[in-house]
Amino acid sequence: MSETKIERGELRYEGKAKRVYATATPTEYIVEYKDDATAFNGVKKAQIGGKGAINNAITAAIYPLLEAAGIPTHFISKLSDTEQLVKAVTIVPVEVIVRNVAAGSFSKRLDIAEGTPLSRPVVEYCYKSDALGDPLINTDTAVSLGWATEDDLKRIRELALQVRDFLTPFFLARGIRLIDFKLEFGKLSSGEIVLADEISPDTCRFWDAQTNEKMDKDRFRRDLGGVEDAYAEMLRRVTQGAANQSEN
Ligand SMILES: Nc1ncnc2c1ncn2[C@@H]1O[C@H](COP(=O)(O)OP(=O)(O)O)[C@@H](O)[C@H]1O
Ligand SMILES: [Mg+2]
Repeated sequence: MSETKIERGELRYEGKAKRVYATATPTEYIVEYKDDATAFNGVKKAQIGGKGAINNAITAAIYPLLEAAGIPTHFISKLSDTEQLVKAVTIVPVEVIVRNVAAGSFSKRLDIAEGTPLSRPVVEYCYKSDALGDPLINTDTAVSLGWATEDDLKRIRELALQVRDFLTPFFLARGIRLIDFKLEFGKLSSGEIVLADEISPDTCRFWDAQTNEKMDKDRFRRDLGGVEDAYAEMLRRVTQGAANQSEN
């Protein structure tokens, strides 16, 4: 049988970093990764050359590994440099942050120095709302306002910690400390919760294990320079495997 090229249907959603298109199959979407970068709730905007292709490639490399580790995801296949085919889900409007080490808003809110290791991982929840700037919430709020059920949130927390348990040693073997990361989950029509969205330098804090140099979107947020190089280096470390880093 000849291969059918999967064509983009109508644009369903355009976010800050990606576009979501319908396909001829109602249960599948095409996600296109853009070079657009935003920070501080869209106040700071720029293009990061090659970011779309890099984040697409990193997510496309990691999601199958998570699947193999027993974590259900929306990922189906990589279609092109900047596109991937995913299962259409209804996104749970709760962003899930998992922290290994204090940084970013956690450090600010609690006045804990960035880089302070946490004695156990911390899972935080934010309401996914650009208009409100993704405010911190707790799970009672999400249940009370009908964003997710108690069972959904229990499953989401379990999966988020499984992602953490897989990714932390995965990155360390590649010379990277996984400081924190943000996940989004969605529901299939069956009701199953799956990991959606992306895992990339846009959504994680990565610090070089030797130098603690930032290798993620903080280089853009904080005007540290070398943004493109850091993203490219993260792709190299993800795809080249663990060998070199663990040897030295
Ligand atoms: N499998 C999926 N099905 C439906 N929507 C998805 C899926 N994966 C991600 N999304 C949504 O698509 C949008 C991705 O675009 P992005 O630019 O990251 O958005 P945002 O500006 O909200 O961060 C997000 O709203 C995300 O929740
Ligand atoms: Mg996003």
